[in-house]
Amino acid sequence: MNAKTTSTFPTAALIGGDWVTSSKTFPVYDPATGDKLADVPDMGAEDACRAIDAASKAFPEWAAKPSKERAQILRRWHELLLSENEALAQLMTAEQGKPLTEARNEVAYGASFVEWFAEEGKRAYGHTIPTTASARRFITIKQPIGVCAAITPWNFPLAMITRKVSSALAAGCTIIVKPSEETPLCALAVAKLAVDAGVPPGVFNVITTLDAAGVGKALTADARVRKLTFTGSTEVGRILYRQSADTIKKLTLELGGNAPLIVFDDADLDRAISGTMASKFRNAGQTCVCANRILVQAGIYDRFVTALKKEVAKLTVAPGRDPKSTVGPLINADAVAKVKSRLADATARGAKIEVGGTPDSHGALFFTPTILTGVKPEMQIASEEIFGPVASIIRFETEADAIRIANDTPYGLAAYLFSRDIGRAWRVAEALESGMVGINEGLFSNEVAPFGGVKQSGLGREGAQEGLEEYLETKFLCLGGITD
Ligand code: SIN
Repeated sequence: MNAKTTSTFPTAALIGGDWVTSSKTFPVYDPATGDKLADVPDMGAEDACRAIDAASKAFPEWAAKPSKERAQILRRWHELLLSENEALAQLMTAEQGKPLTEARNEVAYGASFVEWFAEEGKRAYGHTIPTTASARRFITIKQPIGVCAAITPWNFPLAMITRKVSSALAAGCTIIVKPSEETPLCALAVAKLAVDAGVPPGVFNVITTLDAAGVGKALTADARVRKLTFTGSTEVGRILYRQSADTIKKLTLELGGNAPLIVFDDADLDRAISGTMASKFRNAGQTCVCANRILVQAGIYDRFVTALKKEVAKLTVAPGRDPKSTVGPLINADAVAKVKSRLADATARGAKIEVGGTPDSHGALFFTPTILTGVKPEMQIASEEIFGPVASIIRFETEADAIRIANDTPYGLAAYLFSRDIGRAWRVAEALESGMVGINEGLFSNEVAPFGGVKQSGLGREGAQEGLEEYLETKFLCLGGITD
């Protein structure tokens, strides 16, 4: 990590506007080199309660601010994120491993949510409702839900925080963020810029911890926390969902995916290849919306595999700080082990490694971009999230087969299809059981469109108009006694 980054951003947690240390700490490592970057506080359930106290205390004043004032603070935060883009990107690459270009893009992506919600917060409109009785009038108003908690992942260590926090803050809520233990430094950096922008004490708190279960329990058990937002695995989402039941919290859950990417015979091959590359190899395959199963129709299959091999050969595996890097390390040893075991299961059951399939010489956490053919839906690699740079290809014959295979999963986050037939594109997009569909597009995430899944991929939406709604309650006002 460069000197500017270490000296600029904090390594303490943030509670009630104070940067807080702890007698217990834990180290944060660079996944590319294994070097220690910093130690951060290892906080516990009591610290989470202190953060809830601070967020509760700050709530009435923040909620009462005119939305325009909140918007001005959010806009300043947005500007600071952009002006610190390079330092944040360097920090992200050091902490998370992604190539610098991707890290820079993530800072811009993360900042775009702050800008969007700064504006959208001004549009938390209620309604007037035509009355059913002449002496009464009906209206609804929108109010912030209250104190929120956010549990955020390591794969987008900045954007998943700004996506949640800016919508909560724009709505008038206060928030406590528990970032992944793999990437607390980005969370703290983002929080510092929010403080610099004028976010008042207690409105945005960050608890760094190795005790995710203990802190998660404290956040879910407390009735003052009215909303929980989580991005991560379906397994953990289920636990948090259960834990939130006792206090009937509102939930946004962005959980696991098993995205199908369908290439029909009538697809524009170049477009299908560039879309597949973008969807599959972004962040070394470590996104919830990465193409997990690439379904290719028999008539285009051979040409697609040949062209994909050519493109994959152009990828450069290297530490993210190397300007030539397009594929960085995986996040940790468990991630590498998972990719290897999925590959072993697939090859043992008859799949063929066309390219890659081995660890990469850059270090323990690097894995070579891989193409696997002859994949069957029942293989682990097709039924579970890979979260690594493996393009796993299934051959299919008919449109009906593609839809059946694509939907044969408990997950439903993202899906992609490539076809030049507009009727087919529309038909298949409607039939796919997923929250988002890329049609002739491999990358679709942005701040103005709703991000989220169906089935066991989660609840609620982030970004867009829908994302603000998640942090608002609708109150119905019935005004009686109106007489002539
Ligand atoms: C994720 O992988 O959780 C988020 C990806 C995105 O926002 O595009």
